Amino acid sequence: MKYVIANLKSNKNTAEVADWIQSYTGKKSDAVTAILAPSLVHLTQVSDAGDDRFALAAQDVSQFPMGSYTGAVNARQLKEIGVQYAIVGHSERRRYFGETHAQIANKIAQLLDEGITPVLCLDTEYIVEQAAVMDPEHQKKIIVAYEPLSAIGSGKNQDVGTVTEVVKEIHQVYDDQVPVLYGGSVTEDNVREYSLVCDGVLVGGASLDPKHFSRIVAAITA
Ligand code: PGA
Repeated sequence: MKYVIANLKSNKNTAEVADWIQSYTGKKSDAVTAILAPSLVHLTQVSDAGDDRFALAAQDVSQFPMGSYTGAVNARQLKEIGVQYAIVGHSERRRYFGETHAQIANKIAQLLDEGITPVLCLDTEYIVEQAAVMDPEHQKKIIVAYEPLSAIGSGKNQDVGTVTEVVKEIHQVYDDQVPVLYGGSVTEDNVREYSLVCDGVLVGGASLDPKHFSRIVAAITA
């Protein structure tokens, strides 16, 4: 199974999300799971659209359960509206919001408790440190996305040889069965080479255009 995730980040308004769904031309497939990760405020809208061509992901989750944590959205609330996956530890969360390895490990625990699959983003420098603060059982139940900082949003996608090596390292440190995706300036032109060496891709910029994202999904299925 290959995974292709559209991470819309903090982009789009309600009308644009509706347009994204309408313009997406991907088909449901047993070989590829397409996943849409809109802003938190659009999760219900996408869920209500009931489109079974893609699964629904959150871009973040509270590290705490239901309770007195003002402003936080917890895993149980996400589950209730049909969220199946959640991105955690994206470098933008680590960098701009100061998220720590320990907080990210807590988020993973919250998600797994609710049966939501965490998509843990890692750059090479903290592959080991992040694993060190996680429950070893949790390490087997996640999807990992290798996201080199230099490749994100830069147009400088990582060379496939390096990705191959890092996938091996992630399998050694976490579990050799976890799906490992690559993320960082993925486009319809380079997705094929990554799909040969890993289990899919996490797409930022190129996913904002639903037609481009559809072509990425098609390329990975081909
Ligand atoms: P990008 O973003 O595709 O725009 O490089 C990837 C990501 O941040 O996950």
